[in-house]
Amino acid sequence: MPIMLKSEAELDVMREAGRIVGQTLAGIREMVRPGLNLLEAEAFVTEQFKKHGAIETFRGYDPAGKPPYPSNVCASVNEELVHGIPRDRILEEGDIVTFDLGATYKGFVGDSAITVAVGKISPEAKRLMEVTEGALWAGIEAMGTGTHLNDVSAAIEDAIPAEYSIVREYTGHGVGRQMHEEPQVPNYRRRFRGPPLKPGLVLALEPMVNIGSPRTRELDDSWTVATEDGSLCCHFEHTIAIRKGQRPEVLTLP
Ligand code: MF3
Ligand code: CO
Repeated sequence: MPIMLKSEAELDVMREAGRIVGQTLAGIREMVRPGLNLLEAEAFVTEQFKKHGAIETFRGYDPAGKPPYPSNVCASVNEELVHGIPRDRILEEGDIVTFDLGATYKGFVGDSAITVAVGKISPEAKRLMEVTEGALWAGIEAMGTGTHLNDVSAAIEDAIPAEYSIVREYTGHGVGRQMHEEPQVPNYRRRFRGPPLKPGLVLALEPMVNIGSPRTRELDDSWTVATEDGSLCCHFEHTIAIRKGQRPEVLTLP
């Protein structure tokens, strides 16, 4: 599939899809406290999708070789990085949890993730969250017209201090009618500039940062990805559109 540029009318719909995702994530952020069960977050998401007429994007998603993803939200705790399946687990003070959400509205997908602190967290966890969210925003700032894809990857990489590890197995991606479209957006620079960024291009940027080794492993549930060494990790994601003569527009804000 080539890179799909969206028309103004399509961007209008993507704005609505993005807002549903952003507002639902903001609702989850409000709910998070020591004692919250991950299943309550999943139930909240399912209810919000119904309320807004959004179609479930993650549930049933089945890339080659995997069982269908069983839930509407990914909830990944501490050393879990991405694709955690919400289960009967109570959050505890000091945990950090990534909630990753995709919704389809009128045929278009919004995709976003936040990492949230449960009560008081360690200074190391707090700094990791600041670094990862900062890298996401550095990538967003680099999404101007006239730049190339590699400039975005490089901006993300350069925002992450050398003592942290950037995960290489997972990348950002184009997003539109499909959750995963061309191009892939690595969180580190490559040796070629990549395609030019044009108005109508919509990307999901999603830096993933580990405190320890960059390596990850998949757990026995075939979905949950954790750091190989059990170190703390973090993930933030937004869906962003490039607009002619304007700043990049983040579609998944609340
Ligand atoms: N938000 C994730 C991504 O961008 C998708 C989650 S995978 C799913 O790749 F199975 F949960 F859908
Ligand atoms: Co994504």
